[in-house]
Amino acid sequence: MSVSNDLYPNASAPLERKESGVPHVRKGLKVESYNDFDPLKHVIVGIADNQYIPEACPASNEKIPADSPMRGGKAGRRTQESIDQANECLNGFAKLLEGRGIIVDRPGAVDWNARVTTPDFSISSGFGVMPPRDCLLTMGKSILMAPMSFRSRYFEYLAFTDLLREYFESDQECLIEQAPRPRLSDDSFRMDYVAAYEFLSDEETMARSCRKEYSTRETDILFDAADVMRLGKDIFVQHGLTTNLAGIRWIKRKYEPQGYRVHTLSFKDNHPIHIDATFCPLRPGLMLLNPHRPLFDGQREIFEKNDWQIVEAAQPAWDTPPPLCYSSTWLSMNTLILDHKTVCVEATETAQMEQFDKLGFNVLPVNLRDAYAFGGGLHCATADVLREGTCEDYFA
Ligand code: ARG
Repeated sequence: MSVSNDLYPNASAPLERKESGVPHVRKGLKVESYNDFDPLKHVIVGIADNQYIPEACPASNEKIPADSPMRGGKAGRRTQESIDQANECLNGFAKLLEGRGIIVDRPGAVDWNARVTTPDFSISSGFGVMPPRDCLLTMGKSILMAPMSFRSRYFEYLAFTDLLREYFESDQECLIEQAPRPRLSDDSFRMDYVAAYEFLSDEETMARSCRKEYSTRETDILFDAADVMRLGKDIFVQHGLTTNLAGIRWIKRKYEPQGYRVHTLSFKDNHPIHIDATFCPLRPGLMLLNPHRPLFDGQREIFEKNDWQIVEAAQPAWDTPPPLCYSSTWLSMNTLILDHKTVCVEATETAQMEQFDKLGFNVLPVNLRDAYAFGGGLHCATADVLREGTCEDYFA
């Protein structure tokens, strides 16, 4: 990764290692988490430094609305002003968590001011170090780096390697793992779909999505960690744009011998990418569902049979996402749960806060909207390191 040049005068230095030599050992550090709602004790919060808008790639094209300036043309470093504003939000969020006794770690700042090139592809730049939820999958005492489908995110794990080394050295039971690296060559994608995508109507993209035809093919093993919803012994994985069936088979083959049960979920969603603004566990027995993204037939059964209640999320406060944002307004339901009674919600999302209040939660408002464009909301912006509690069987 190179340093600043005329094109990107604001670019800063490449990734600096916190310290060289033997990784720091932190006494008492523990990695363990089995769900998104048990008492949170240690978490990673993303940073906005050096984030780039990469040129469109076959996987990202399908995600970005045709009329969005993010499609093609607009590649380059985000403005320093927007980076500073996003960092202000993320730092405020980290401070709030620390104020509640939660340990907060931040990733290293990679500068993506160089083409990302492998023998199979080349793209204008990397993406950033926000949101960590997409890259890191905490499964019990292990953290897995996911095989992501966006070319610009191919090397994103580099921002976390030093931190993960520390966890590995500090907790003798912790395992750091890497899923098989995908190739992401043109063969990994349906290039005809990618070429046609821009001209398809919403009805057509929805029809294709309902037929489970996405721009990704089955050539590589692909999944983003944010497509995986952990509920103790049961793991629910969204099949969609960022996770293919080979990815789900890999998750099954890896974790089922460890006692987990892996289920596939699909939603009626034009752009199914990451499950955490679509279907979110709130506490044992309670799920929040995006009212615009119903589950496929038959997929509610496992929840209903086990007396889980599925409630529809409140309407977002905003009609549109902020400028240069990849996500929809439904980041309103993308919250961070600190324990069975406490939830962090974006501060402008009044209806969502009220709904949580009625559901018996103590709501902590957090300003995060200015960081949305960097990859998502409060859940996306974090990755679990430690939650109290054990691996429960909620779906006997
Ligand atoms: N696909 C979601 C939406 O646009 C955004 C999910 C973002 N989640 C994440 N982990 N980055 O509604």
